[in-house]
Amino acid sequence: MSTIKDLQDKKATGQKITSLTAYDFTTAQVLEAAGIDLILVGDSLGMVVYGYDSTVYVTMEDMIRHTQAVARGVVKTLVVADMPFGSYHASLEEAVHNAVRLIQAGANGVKVEGATPFVLDVIRRLTEAGILVVAHLGFTPQQVNRIGGNRVQGRDEVAAEGLVRDAKAVVQAGAQLLVLEMIPTELAATITTSISVPTIGIGAGPDCDGQILVVHDLLGLFTSFTPRFVKRYANLAADMTLAVESYIRDVKEGIFPSPEHGF
Ligand code: KIV
Repeated sequence: MSTIKDLQDKKATGQKITSLTAYDFTTAQVLEAAGIDLILVGDSLGMVVYGYDSTVYVTMEDMIRHTQAVARGVVKTLVVADMPFGSYHASLEEAVHNAVRLIQAGANGVKVEGATPFVLDVIRRLTEAGILVVAHLGFTPQQVNRIGGNRVQGRDEVAAEGLVRDAKAVVQAGAQLLVLEMIPTELAATITTSISVPTIGIGAGPDCDGQILVVHDLLGLFTSFTPRFVKRYANLAADMTLAVESYIRDVKEGIFPSPEHGF
């Protein structure tokens, strides 16, 4: 079983950390077999699995169900689950209760977004409870309505200094890994060298300690919207369409099922 210590050792020795999202058993098995370091059960499942236009509709029940499925698909890969919007903001007690539910669903750690004084308290309290906490700064999708869209963060000097301060604060509060989303490359590099814990970038340039993508984006399976920071390594939506069209044709023409598929 790999641990957060293995990822921290990678930062110390300059080896890149690889991470992808997964939301189901089969994908988790494939990612583990391919050798991924870290699987995130991201609340991005709201978009790529459930078809919402943002992550804010995702519930604890959604996250628990998908975390259980992913956990059943891995033997040794570290699994982190997103705490969904609203699940850690009402009170510290509720945050601990919900984080424990995700850990008991099979996650090794939980991820929270932001660095407000309250979120810093959440990180502190979860860490005190023995929970591995991953922080998430830069563009924080759960704040999309407040931010007003998917926007690059930390572009001007004041905002950049604020993000460096926030990165130090989440680590001080106990976060053991930091996701940086949609911030300038140079700022991500500065944050990466300013903190002791690994940074995992998404739209944050090559100088983070590791990279993460939404697996549906990488596979070309989710095609409604492709952010600029995504590199597509396959075109599965097109491949699936071809496969389904072939099946429809075979059934209509009586080619499938053939004798070897019968009893
Ligand atoms: O929900 C998610 O998939 C994420 C990644 C984009 C980091 O938070």
